[in-house]
Amino acid sequence: MVPFLRILGIETSCDETAAAVVERDAEGHANVLSDVVLSQLDEHSAYGGVVPEIAARAHVEALDELIEEALKRAKVSLADVDAIAATSGPGLIGGLLVGLMTGKAIAKAAGKPLYAVNHLEGHALTARLTDGLSFPYLVLLVSGGHTQLILVRGVGQYQRWGTTIDDALGEAFDKTAKLLGLPYPGGPAVERMARDGNAGRFDFPRPLVGETRLDFSFSGLKTAVRQTAQEIAPLSDQDVSDICASFQRAISRTLKDRIGRGLQRFKTEFPVIGEKPALVVAGGVAANLELRGTLQALCDKNGFRFIAPPLSLCTDNAVMIAWAGLERMAIGIAPDPLDVQPRSRWPLDSKAETLIGFGKRGAKA
Ligand code: KG4
Ligand code: ZN
Repeated sequence: MVPFLRILGIETSCDETAAAVVERDAEGHANVLSDVVLSQLDEHSAYGGVVPEIAARAHVEALDELIEEALKRAKVSLADVDAIAATSGPGLIGGLLVGLMTGKAIAKAAGKPLYAVNHLEGHALTARLTDGLSFPYLVLLVSGGHTQLILVRGVGQYQRWGTTIDDALGEAFDKTAKLLGLPYPGGPAVERMARDGNAGRFDFPRPLVGETRLDFSFSGLKTAVRQTAQEIAPLSDQDVSDICASFQRAISRTLKDRIGRGLQRFKTEFPVIGEKPALVVAGGVAANLELRGTLQALCDKNGFRFIAPPLSLCTDNAVMIAWAGLERMAIGIAPDPLDVQPRSRWPLDSKAETLIGFGKRGAKA
């Protein structure tokens, strides 16, 4: 029988510095004792995106205190945790170095094992913490750095069914916002403007719709937005709203087609799994209500459960890193050696080919 386990998690792969203490009981239920996240949004917003050097410095300045705070809120000391889990990739290398080195130092000083966690695995396993989901299931990860449809068969068993061949979805929102003069991060700004817009005014392209492969492409959409904006300039607020609404509609239709095919494939590959199959959404773009609505409707139509974990666990956090460590520890996967190295690129599915253009903006998720 798996014993009760408690882990300190550390996340520094992008622009959130985070620490958390999470427990897993013998039945596999999770208990989040603390969840501390410090966003660097203010440091980066003036630059319209994440600046790696600024991010790494900000992690160095904040991480020690954040870990102390996470332990304090959890009312435990380092002696009370069974292991340390730190993100070791993929992401911005400076930040990864800070988090992993800190994790190693604590592990060494406290005499605890270290788990070097893949950030994407954290996203992929979150729904087991929040909803006790059993394998297999599908995860749609849509963030500023990644757009992937992942089959999760078990801990450490992932198959990438689709990825973007150019921009990540969050990146498409951010770039579109920038060219329309909206603030960073672009997703919330585009969603806000779209509320008052006419989604039928512009017929933007929906790349790859109709193709059997499950990949995504968003750079053509962004280019079409730019051309439209130039053609009708100067833009009134109504024009911007109409563009945003039409842009979101094109994305909704794209997701409907791509993910719809993914759900069909899942049903073919796993005709009987004992319970209703599930699609989980993760990543910052999961905040978008229109896209959530599209995915919910798609799941209803196809007989799937749609699982959207609380937003704080969809975006980057250390709870998911601690949980991934707990999952690995619980099934007896050995900890990592203290000379383990961070990896800016680290695909979850090592067999998946690298697609052209993928990861241009760094391999963050
Ligand atoms: O997962 P996340 O917080 O950070 C990483 O990318 O690691 O995702 C951030 C991304 C940004 O590109 C942001 O524009 C997008 O998520 N985003 C949204 C919304 N809120 C955040 N995109 C669309 N609609 C939103 N409401
Ligand atoms: Zn992420």
